[in-house]
Amino acid sequence: MQRDHRFVWGAAAASFQIEGATREDGRGASVWDAFCQQPGRVRFGHGGDPGCDHYHRYQEDVALMASMGLQAYRLSVSWPRVMPQGRGAVNARGLAFYDRLVDELLARQIDPWVTLFHWDYPLPLYHQGGWLHPDSPKWFADYTAVVVEALSDRVKHWMTLNEPQCFIGLGHQVGEHAPGLRLGMADCLLAAHHTLLAHGLAVQTIRAVSKQPARIGAAPVGIIRFPDNPHSAADVAAARHATFAVERQDLWNNSWWTDPMLLGRYPEDGLSLFAADLPVIGATDLQTIAQPLDFYGVNIYHGERVRAARTPAGYEVVAPAVGRAATCMDWDVAPEALYWGPRLLHERYGLPLVITENGMANNDWVHSDGAVHAPQRIDFMRRYLGALKQATADGVPVEGYFYWSVMDNFEWAYGYDRRFGLIHVDYATGQRRLKDSALWYRDLIQTNGQWL
Ligand code: FCB
Repeated sequence: MQRDHRFVWGAAAASFQIEGATREDGRGASVWDAFCQQPGRVRFGHGGDPGCDHYHRYQEDVALMASMGLQAYRLSVSWPRVMPQGRGAVNARGLAFYDRLVDELLARQIDPWVTLFHWDYPLPLYHQGGWLHPDSPKWFADYTAVVVEALSDRVKHWMTLNEPQCFIGLGHQVGEHAPGLRLGMADCLLAAHHTLLAHGLAVQTIRAVSKQPARIGAAPVGIIRFPDNPHSAADVAAARHATFAVERQDLWNNSWWTDPMLLGRYPEDGLSLFAADLPVIGATDLQTIAQPLDFYGVNIYHGERVRAARTPAGYEVVAPAVGRAATCMDWDVAPEALYWGPRLLHERYGLPLVITENGMANNDWVHSDGAVHAPQRIDFMRRYLGALKQATADGVPVEGYFYWSVMDNFEWAYGYDRRFGLIHVDYATGQRRLKDSALWYRDLIQTNGQWL
């Protein structure tokens, strides 16, 4: 990978997906706890408990991370664990867990990168209106202050929101994720606006409260279109256009989220497309939202192949080949996304990139020799990281890569039925095993990616 010493090799996970212990030490409920209890919402009726039980096994997990040579671990803090009601009283025992976890990581030379919100929204706040409430940005900022006050003596890297496209789009528009709502576009745009304000206020809060100079980003999902023919200027222009266009009555795009954050304005095409449903945008809102960031964190799993065409949009999607390679999420294996994504995002926003998530679900199991071989994941990582390396060789500043996920975990509406981990988890016993892909990643990290 690039020779810059700052490039960091990591892996990621999120609180609700691995912690378990949902009723322990004073943790409050989240929208995901409630969602899991509703019949038919999550595959096989799975829920947060006991799951990976990372809350109790974090020392063993951190030891495994160290054995892989991870330089950084991206974790998320559970808002309702820290503030059971979402605001007001702080739960010292909940906060203490993150204190111990951060210390454990640092003792093993693993840098903690902390996401403040990865979808486990406090249930009591949801009952007060959640992201639709005009005070919701402030609630998030107040919670942020508590976490940053407690951890920033040791934590330098922060991410505000994970994939707002998903928790608003899947959670509030199509109802496949918690809280399971199917709101109209006007409400979704209002909730989205509040999350952007929450991001802006949180960045201001981190800068104000942090005990050391912080490095801050967000972790939106990257919706990537790449050119069918990379040597055709017209296809490249089509990919660029398609990656940033706002074209549908949903929130599944990049620009509606990151133009306000980084360019201080909503994109014009979105403003006209959503004209009938736009929320009232206060005079200073965009100033609040557009706080300077230190890196563009982005989660990239796949992408769509496009080419220039005489269609109203100026491009068309190239259907995947018959017999395409796909992961167990049915996501195309498209390493091009990890080349063109960083390149196009850097071109538009100018920031250095951090891949805050990338990975694949595979039907891993423990083989009869006792190992978890995971050859597809090794090939996936080789291809995707090769593409990322090419992006850096072509001048895109990339500061780090976090594989999703460090261990198998609760994959939202799929429950435990999808395995993304480098570490295999036997949910019946809690036993962990390093998959062969973890050993492959360890060897790669040791050479700083040189043999990719
Ligand atoms: C992303 C989420 C993460 C995980 C991966 C597979 O959308 O941020 O929590 O579920 O997908």
